[in-house]
Amino acid sequence: MRLVPLERCESKMMLGQSIYDGNGRVLLAKGTELSDRLIQRLKKLHIYSVYIEDELSQGIEIVESVPERLRIEAVNVITDSLNTIAELKDTSGSNLQGMMKTGRAIRSLQKVFKDLLSCLSENRTVINLLATTKIHGNDIYQHSLNVTIYACQLAIENGLPLKNIEEIGLGAMLHDVGKVFISHEVLNKPGKLTEEEYEYVKKHTELGFDLLRKIHEIPMTVSHCALQHHEKLDGTGYPRGLKETEIHSYAKIISVADVFSALTSHRAYRTPFLPHEALEILYAGSGSQFESKQIQLFKGCIAIYPQGLTVKMNDGRIGIISDYNFHSVGRPKVRIIRDEYNQKIVPYEIDLSSKEHLTLDIIESDPLLY
Ligand SMILES: [Fe+2]
Repeated sequence: MRLVPLERCESKMMLGQSIYDGNGRVLLAKGTELSDRLIQRLKKLHIYSVYIEDELSQGIEIVESVPERLRIEAVNVITDSLNTIAELKDTSGSNLQGMMKTGRAIRSLQKVFKDLLSCLSENRTVINLLATTKIHGNDIYQHSLNVTIYACQLAIENGLPLKNIEEIGLGAMLHDVGKVFISHEVLNKPGKLTEEEYEYVKKHTELGFDLLRKIHEIPMTVSHCALQHHEKLDGTGYPRGLKETEIHSYAKIISVADVFSALTSHRAYRTPFLPHEALEILYAGSGSQFESKQIQLFKGCIAIYPQGLTVKMNDGRIGIISDYNFHSVGRPKVRIIRDEYNQKIVPYEIDLSSKEHLTLDIIESDPLLY
């Protein structure tokens, strides 16, 4: 299987992964043969690239960090829970029925997080969410799940006790709850936001915090994740411009996960960044915006070069990432498909982490290379 940009897709190509809508319903099943009409339809849905099964990439399997079934369940629980909690906004604390509903919503979130956590702790793998093609439309919920998965893995890498990991998980699922109150048009505006619109969007941090702190089942540290996840070490963040130690450690973890998830997602005004590009942007803010330690640990959590991605080596050869090396995430296994003169060849595999290939580097990774 390999990742192919939609603009390079042709009819008769076979889908290697199912494509879902935001509610987890299958739009196009794995194994579907693409037609010009289907390709046009996917373009309209802002799908940027798809996994294709072909002879060249035969045998390259995409390892899922979290099984599809659990991702769909989690996104549904997050959607229902965030909306239930948002209903509390205009009710007083004495609304017993509302409080009971909210209590149930929190317990559902905690339960689904437990499942995510056990899945991530059992399958020692690097996270690749590139494969989770979803139709955009309810970005907040899908984004909240991705942030939760990244933040959970980062919390594990930090060696934190279970109680802290669970609080970070709940904080990550709820960090953008305030966005439920921000208008869809502004959140999905195709161009740059005006200053006024940006100030309005920024309010989601305080709106979320005000809502969460009313709920007694939610620890204050979790409410602070909603308030502080856009704060930066150097004080340039919002809403309060907090610095260094003034920012809660949970918010520092969620902020790294949040920015990475946002960069690697489709936006109305740009195509998604690939993981290694998003990581470079995080590195540029290491020590000024984000804690250097968190960026270092995060690098070990994610699939910098996900399986199925086309890459170019410093000697000109082109290949497809065929597998990870957990001991060296930046040096994966590559199936070479074109030689240094850009000629098609009989494919063969090389392992960039082995001694004989240490002089080779990936200089470009882009599905458009082939
Ligand atoms: Fe946010």
